[in-house]
Amino acid sequence: MSFDRSLKIAPSILAADFAAFGAECRAVEDQGADWIHVDVMDGHFVPNLTFGPAMCAALRPHIRTVMDVHLMIAPVDPYIEAFAKAGADIITAHVEAGPHIHRTLQAIRGAGAKAGLALNPGTGIEAVPHLLDMVDLICVMTVNPGFGGQSFIASQVAKVRALREMIGDRPIHLQIDGGVTPETAPLVAEAGADVLVAGSAVFRGGSVSDPAPYGANMRAIRDAVAG
Ligand code: DX5
Ligand code: ZN
Repeated sequence: MSFDRSLKIAPSILAADFAAFGAECRAVEDQGADWIHVDVMDGHFVPNLTFGPAMCAALRPHIRTVMDVHLMIAPVDPYIEAFAKAGADIITAHVEAGPHIHRTLQAIRGAGAKAGLALNPGTGIEAVPHLLDMVDLICVMTVNPGFGGQSFIASQVAKVRALREMIGDRPIHLQIDGGVTPETAPLVAEAGADVLVAGSAVFRGGSVSDPAPYGANMRAIRDAVAG
């Protein structure tokens, strides 16, 4: 199948009901989500804690699309095998998480998952050309990682544009994570992003028993991008 660079929305379950993750994944997929974004935090690399591989394994049967696991942890390498075994389709690690991102990306692919590389807002793109052959996705953080519901950092749009040019025809997704709303999505889509992670902007106003707002929220983002 040819590489799909069309716009995709990846709801972040960080904004879902933590007591109902399985049902939340099913509900948001029924409402049109393209991928499910799973935020793993360790209280050390970022100032917040979520969950680990056991939760990902429990979620796996509830996800029909793509399980996109964003690791905000350091170190990363000791846990790659466990997240791959848990069924992650994509495992994204931060360039800031350790001194050996090249080895980390090798290990992710070696474990059978697609490899993602995330860049914090304060990180430049100098390392990326040296890693382009090893990544399936580049994630530009448009908030400082750790919490949902933060404001989009507009200075990152230029970074997205530069990365899009660097990627060229390579089969690499360009993902945006943080503060994506109908107002900010067009800025990053125009700059070349194809995967938009959105937590609060997707889950707001809805619930497992009333999931229609999830669909309306995702349509609002797609419509804003389509202009
Ligand atoms: C931030 C996480 C994001 C976050 C996005 O640390 O990586 O995935 O949940 O949430 P919103 O869309 O609310 O900014
Ligand atoms: Zn994330």
